[in-house]
Amino acid sequence: MRTEQPADRPAVLNLVARAFAAGDGSEPVESRLLAELYACDGFLPEFSLVAEDAGTVVGQVISTRGWIDGAPALGLGPIAVEPDRQRAGIGAALLAETRRRAEAAGESVIVLLGSTDYYPRFGYRPASESGIQAPNPAWGENFMALPLASVPPTGAFAYAEPFGRL
Ligand SMILES: CC(C)(COP(=O)(O)OP(=O)(O)OC[C@H]1O[C@@H](n2cnc3c(N)ncnc32)[C@H](O)[C@@H]1OP(=O)(O)O)[C@@H](O)C(=O)NCCC(=O)NCCS
Repeated sequence: MRTEQPADRPAVLNLVARAFAAGDGSEPVESRLLAELYACDGFLPEFSLVAEDAGTVVGQVISTRGWIDGAPALGLGPIAVEPDRQRAGIGAALLAETRRRAEAAGESVIVLLGSTDYYPRFGYRPASESGIQAPNPAWGENFMALPLASVPPTGAFAYAEPFGRL
């Protein structure tokens, strides 16, 4: 588990394209999103992580600067693990390292859009329970938050700008 470096990006983008592949040969939106996140104002180098095994990148996760009614927050995603290495704890390790770094940096909350079958095991709960509203109300309980501060900010969450172009 280490901080992603610019030299990793071709391998990371390739991994993300395969992990999110729809099977019809089209480029997944997550690939373009990730490339744009690397270049946006909300990019936080210490929250762009890769999992590496024997010199090969086998997983990635990125969290970028988002805002809750003007207060800083982390927006996690995309996260992806090499298809033939999934279900071996790599995703869990990427989430744990993100949390560790967020706590060390004094971040107040991490939010994400994802499966309610996966993220609750890492402490994520529907963000509405913490008084945080999704950019899109249709996301419902799939918009989740992991509060880190004793009193995290409440209000409407806004992702880094590239998410708005999805
Ligand atoms: C989601 C992902 C990052 C998880 O990484 P991973 O290394 O496979 O996950 P872990 O090994 O830490 O955890 C595996 C567990 O999570 C569950 N899980 C994995 N992906 C899941 C998903 N999308 N929905 C629900 N559960 C999921 C598995 O069932 C497994 O549970 P089990 O051990 O009880 O069988 C990985 O599966 C992946 O890259 N998927 C494709 C891209 C994607 O969907 N990204 C997330 C978008 S929110």
